[in-house]
Amino acid sequence: MKILGIETSCDETSAAVLDGNQETKKVTLLSNVVASSMQLHSKTGGIIPEVAAREQIKYMLPVVHEALTKASLDTKNPQIDAIAVTIGPGLIGSLLVGVETAKTLSFVWNKPIIPVNHLFGHIYANWIEKPTIELPCLAVIISGGHTDLVVIKNHNQVTWIAGTRDDAAGEAFDKIGRLLQLPYPAGPTIEKLAKEGNPKAYNFPRPLLHEKTFDFSFSGLKTAVLREVQKLESGTVDGKNKIFSQDEKRTADPRKNLHSNKLNQQTICDLARATQDAIVDVVVQKTLKAAEEYNVSSIVLSGGVAANQTLKETFEEQIAKNQLPFAFYVPAKNLCTDNGAMIAAAAFYNPQQKNWDQITANPELYFD
Ligand code: KG4
Ligand code: ZN
Repeated sequence: MKILGIETSCDETSAAVLDGNQETKKVTLLSNVVASSMQLHSKTGGIIPEVAAREQIKYMLPVVHEALTKASLDTKNPQIDAIAVTIGPGLIGSLLVGVETAKTLSFVWNKPIIPVNHLFGHIYANWIEKPTIELPCLAVIISGGHTDLVVIKNHNQVTWIAGTRDDAAGEAFDKIGRLLQLPYPAGPTIEKLAKEGNPKAYNFPRPLLHEKTFDFSFSGLKTAVLREVQKLESGTVDGKNKIFSQDEKRTADPRKNLHSNKLNQQTICDLARATQDAIVDVVVQKTLKAAEEYNVSSIVLSGGVAANQTLKETFEEQIAKNQLPFAFYVPAKNLCTDNGAMIAAAAFYNPQQKNWDQITANPELYFD
């Protein structure tokens, strides 16, 4: 079964062709093309939805064309069985580009559409490389917009169990990065700087870590980093870091913190390290507790933050050290961030086909 997957929920425009064997349930990725408007958003320190949508329009057809060509398919009338498309959650302007393109292609080529929840797409990125993941499985979706724990009993039974009460983990990385004057998105840069950071320099709070709930909360972490930065900038000398006086106060609104950076490089590395340690600690500990409680056989990570190597290694260390009975998987980096292949994979494992006139973009789509 050949599926064309289309993903346009945010700032990536992606199309992929995946070939799934219905007997063995194994999938082969024939192409996965991603165009990103990230560099434009880097300049503004965050995504401006209208800019993202306009870029989607620019890239959409060339990306589909390239995905079909790379998969050695006829671009005029490709031999595919279905078109899978992200219908939400996401930015409405961006989503509409993918959804309306999929509907038009479905109409012209007379192929069914499989609507896909973007969050399911992230989860199923894991099945592209490991089609035999043991069920039941606990999926951790950690991206710029989400931090969710989801139990998959089988491919038709996916149950949300917990999520963030405020900021998502990726959002916390990005907002704290903004406080530290790092480029957007800040997750990868914080990971790099953290390697040079002193783990004992700062100790930020781990909200909800010892509470009964499996929910997450990351907004307090952002406030703790802000307070520390303000303290440092107000001229405090901590022995090794000479901090200069500030010419502009940082505020709780990270969008306003664009112009002054008086922290020295080592302090920024130390703050990056403490930020990453707090996020990794909370995500790993809460996930492992939930995995025990729900008695799952495996844990899969997904979403942009799953590209964080320290997070992956900490999971592996904790599972090995405590001899926990969970198989553990993380997709390749290019499959952690938004891509069309994961949308085609989710469609293959849950192929609910619709006609083009039954499809609508839904920016608020979540879990049932
Ligand atoms: O899944 P994704 O590409 O888009 C959303 O659906 O949100 O995730 C993007 C998020 C950003 O917040 C980015 O800072 C974060 O993933 N991210 C990382 C790393 N790479 C990307 N966070 C921490 N460490 C990384 N290496
Ligand atoms: Zn995403």
